[in-house]
Amino acid sequence: MSDKKTIFSGVQPSGKLTLGNYLGAIKNFQLLQEEYNCIYCVVDMHAITVRQEPAALRRQTLEVLAQYIACGLDPEKSILFVQSHVPAHAELAWVLNCFTMFGEASRMTQFKDKSAKHTDNVNVGLFDYPVLMAADILLYQTDMVPVGVDQRQHVELARNIVQRFNGIHPDTFVMPEPYIPKTGAKIMSLADPVRKMSKSDENQNGFILLMDKPEDIMRKFKRAVTDSDSRIIVADDKPGVSNLISIYALATGQTTEAVEAEFAGKGYGDFKPAVGQAVVELLRPIRTKTEDLLKNKDYLEQVYRAGAAKASYLARKTMDKVYRKVGFVKR
Ligand code: TYM
Repeated sequence: MSDKKTIFSGVQPSGKLTLGNYLGAIKNFQLLQEEYNCIYCVVDMHAITVRQEPAALRRQTLEVLAQYIACGLDPEKSILFVQSHVPAHAELAWVLNCFTMFGEASRMTQFKDKSAKHTDNVNVGLFDYPVLMAADILLYQTDMVPVGVDQRQHVELARNIVQRFNGIHPDTFVMPEPYIPKTGAKIMSLADPVRKMSKSDENQNGFILLMDKPEDIMRKFKRAVTDSDSRIIVADDKPGVSNLISIYALATGQTTEAVEAEFAGKGYGDFKPAVGQAVVELLRPIRTKTEDLLKNKDYLEQVYRAGAAKASYLARKTMDKVYRKVGFVKR
């Protein structure tokens, strides 16, 4: 690789991708690929920390890969691959387990939330999830990790692990930094704007999927929860409107201030359909391209195979170093 800095990020194939995944993360993956060495992974090993239907997981893994490409990730510029195809992720996770404290892993809010939600399946993998995520990041000597704000704590844990590991075995890992966008880092539910937009929301009106049809997108935006005061401004006590302003700003490439100015004196009757329309136009090419790509499984296979070969090469270099540092005999 050249001396450009390295970017790594991943998305779980645990369902359909949402507008939150796109605006909070994937949109930035694409912007970063021009200036950095970028590695983007479909993290199927993370997905099985909650029960998945095997056929659906296989399909969704290819769908995320297709959506990566449809969102502008270029397999010639970025490494695109599937996590389970590079066994070094699991190998490094094991070593890092031995450098992660039970107490710090217990403090992860996503573990607490998920274990409260899946009380019948609080498995060790769910607890270990952030350590596997640290392995993903550290394996490629990553400088920057573009993520939404909900992943900040996990990147912080990866940083703590680096500090501890490098403290004992100097110069092993690069210290990664989170890259969290100013606008879009936390897109909220359209139905309940104090909660994050999430594909696991029972209320279908709360989230927009990248593959949603235009009429569904329009309907969900028209129904979006706002508040009684009809001013279109960003404010702490107006989470619904603030969220729509962020979405419109990102979809049309403007600042939130410009959006406030555009809709000054107008009401929700003008604003909500305008946001819907902007999102329809934003997602239309992504949806069409994804559908086309999914018809071409051979191409997708070629992309993930080539991606795994390149990723494995880089990962092996780190693993050799790590195994040497911890004292394993060279095989
Ligand atoms: P995942 O699959 O839940 O989400 C993928 C990315 O989308 C972001 N995101 C959001 N951003 C803004 N608003 C939202 N409503 C929203 N919902 C999701 C997430 O922050 C994330 O960036 N643990 C990760 C996957 C992962 C990973 C990694 C990421 C595994 N290994 C290594 C970075 C580096 C996750 O579950 O993301």
